[in-house]
Amino acid sequence: MRTNYFPLGIAKGEAFCNRVQERKQLINNTEKNRHTLVIAPRRYGKSSLVLCGLEEMDISYERVDLFVAVNSKTIEEQILKGIKNLLTRINTVPEQVVGFIRSYIKDLKSRWIVGTDGVSIELIPEKDGDSASIIMEALQMLENVLAKKNKKAVFFIDEFQEIGVLAHASGIEGAIRHVAQESEYLHFIFSGSNRHILANMFDNRSSPLYMLCDRISIDRIHEKDYIAYLDKVAKKTWKKSLDKAVTDEIFKLTERHPYYMNVLCDKVWTNSGEKLPTIKTVRTAWDDYILQEESKIAKDLESLNTSQKKILIAIAHGVSDKLTSKYSLGKFKVTSAAITKSLKLLDEQDYVSKYKNGEYFIIDPLIKASLIKFYPQMF
Ligand SMILES: Nc1ncnc2c1ncn2[C@@H]1O[C@H](COP(=O)(O)OP(=O)(O)OP(=O)(O)O)[C@@H](O)[C@H]1O
Ligand SMILES: [Mg+2]
Repeated sequence: MRTNYFPLGIAKGEAFCNRVQERKQLINNTEKNRHTLVIAPRRYGKSSLVLCGLEEMDISYERVDLFVAVNSKTIEEQILKGIKNLLTRINTVPEQVVGFIRSYIKDLKSRWIVGTDGVSIELIPEKDGDSASIIMEALQMLENVLAKKNKKAVFFIDEFQEIGVLAHASGIEGAIRHVAQESEYLHFIFSGSNRHILANMFDNRSSPLYMLCDRISIDRIHEKDYIAYLDKVAKKTWKKSLDKAVTDEIFKLTERHPYYMNVLCDKVWTNSGEKLPTIKTVRTAWDDYILQEESKIAKDLESLNTSQKKILIAIAHGVSDKLTSKYSLGKFKVTSAAITKSLKLLDEQDYVSKYKNGEYFIIDPLIKASLIKFYPQMF
């Protein structure tokens, strides 16, 4: 089968580029029994990084994705499903562990039905039990089974901010902390994209998860790593390197956002056929993509009010600091208070972020390119 060098989903194997430092930190944390929180904006490569790191380690793991959760009950169901999968995976003969769990649950407050369907373990909590206690007891059960087997395992909860959004006061965060702060065999990796919700969950002194994890914030992949990667794939495809001008154009348009790098490169590679791509191939592919995504982006921007849109347009056109200066106020025709409020909201909703030097930038290069296309003049 041909390797997909520019996947739009999880990047693995040969399609995974760099992140050496981050993988090292993740592996080191797991070895030292330190829980980890991985934060980055949408589609920067959080899931790929964690899954790649886990594959590198010789350790049992399970990934629970809370993206599909809608309330605390579905969060509970997803977590329980993950625990059952992990229990089944670490036990080649599930009956062995069922006996152990049965004797363990005798002392629990809530009732559980524990059985096996031959291959996997069944773990059913009593109806109407509260999600926090059920999660706590099930995780504790997992830790005990791991301890008995003297085996370590990783529980990776992806899109963890959903607990903060859907079930903040439900006690689930406290339940996880209760197990995580004592566990010796069960190791946690959390990952999520909304910096503000996650900060509220992990950095707030009064939050149960305060100071529980080491943190990995992932950024865009460095230019030199992408150059080496594109060179490798170009040589495999055309037996030649890409022109520097072509790689520069790819970087300029995608701003090295991992998802858009893969989208654009996939199109460029497909459209080029037998010939080496040119700057024109790159620009045409990107313009076609903007056109294709136009209505989606327009719909996304519909939720913003006029001053938020004006600010985004200004940032797209390169006004990245002094947004509340006299000059900007005159241009935007909105008050300084409205600009400050809009910027706060755009930041909270991950439309914009700040470089270390304090300048704002638009996180999603497709939104930026579409804004420039929709509004070629600033105002
Ligand atoms: N190290 C990498 N090398 C090459 N491509 C990568 C890398 N990491 C991520 N990608 C690509 O970036 C895109 C996003 O990856 P991934 O789904 O892992 O990100 P994410 O941050 O978990 O996204 P989401 O916010 O949607 O959960 C995918 O197209 C993936 O193939
Ligand atoms: Mg993900």
